[in-house]
Amino acid sequence: MSQNYETLLLNGDEAVSQAVQLLQQGECVALPTETVYGLAANAANAPAVDKIFAAKGRPKNHPLIVHIPAVSHLEKWAADIPATAYALAEQFWPGPLTLLLKKAPHVDDVVTGGLDTIALRVPAHPLFLSVLAQLDSGLAAPSANRYKQLSPTIAEQVSKGLKGRIAAVLDGGPCAHGLESTILDLVSERPRILRAGPITKQQLDVALGCDVEMPKQHVEVVPGNVKAHYQPITPARLVTTEQLVADMAELQGQNVCLLLWSEQAIAQAKATGLTASQWREMPREAALYGQQLYVTLYQVDQLDVANILVELPPQSDDWRAINDRLSRAASY
Ligand code: TXA
Ligand code: MG
Repeated sequence: MSQNYETLLLNGDEAVSQAVQLLQQGECVALPTETVYGLAANAANAPAVDKIFAAKGRPKNHPLIVHIPAVSHLEKWAADIPATAYALAEQFWPGPLTLLLKKAPHVDDVVTGGLDTIALRVPAHPLFLSVLAQLDSGLAAPSANRYKQLSPTIAEQVSKGLKGRIAAVLDGGPCAHGLESTILDLVSERPRILRAGPITKQQLDVALGCDVEMPKQHVEVVPGNVKAHYQPITPARLVTTEQLVADMAELQGQNVCLLLWSEQAIAQAKATGLTASQWREMPREAALYGQQLYVTLYQVDQLDVANILVELPPQSDDWRAINDRLSRAASY
């Protein structure tokens, strides 16, 4: 059923109104956000939301994030909203912070995976915001990838995974952050981060004036926050700088691609004579690295190498979301 679409690529002046029309007709449309592309459907239309699960091959008990046009829409989707939610929304919305709140009674189980909570955010991408403003509703949107694959940060990557399975892709260029939003649970006794993202623990600590809980390892508190996620097709492994430098000569003869960021590792790759297709230089700055991570893994996946070796990045707070995604991308 979900294989029958022509999958229009929408861009230009009419793109937003075409996307709005398809969404009003109960179709799924991939839309750009400032984090990653989302696969959107009208959150108030259960059969439309069902199509998201069919297109992605996502298990039905994995809850979705509902994207709203403005903070004034919070009460339409959530109940018992604490003052902290408004304070955080004021500071970080539109933006890459998802708040977990008690759900309003009318919200369909298909959106929340049957949970009594709901994840909400106002995204910062101008095209997504225009679509939301015209619909004046909420859009359920997980990342626009097939289940367990990498989140897409360019329209081409969405099409590669979902062509034939969804009505359209709205092309908004490359996503600014390149990593999924931070998810903050405001229902638990103490605010806690369920998924690290572009808004850091430090920023949330300052905003809330408390020590926000941050699980050391990701926790599978809900279906969907699973370890084997965000994976390239090619097996990937995280390796320390020291180990990579030591192994570089041996790697030269192998069908591998290295993602390197440190001066030391890059100098060693050059000195050893690795070919251009055997390594990529990654940015040394966390925000830029994050922006390029998924698209680089996507591109390297097309090279037909046997393995991807990723140089372990710094471990500081601003690299936390990157390390979280890399630990999940690594399959051995
Ligand atoms: O940046 C993002 O958040 C992107 C863009 C499109 O907004 N969306 C995204 O959605 O990453 P998705 O479905 O790929 O990841 C959403 C995560 C899942 O791990 C899901 O388990 C969690 O949010 N989530 C959603 N609703 C939840 C709930 N009620 N309780 C706990 N976790 C929830
Ligand atoms: Mg996802």
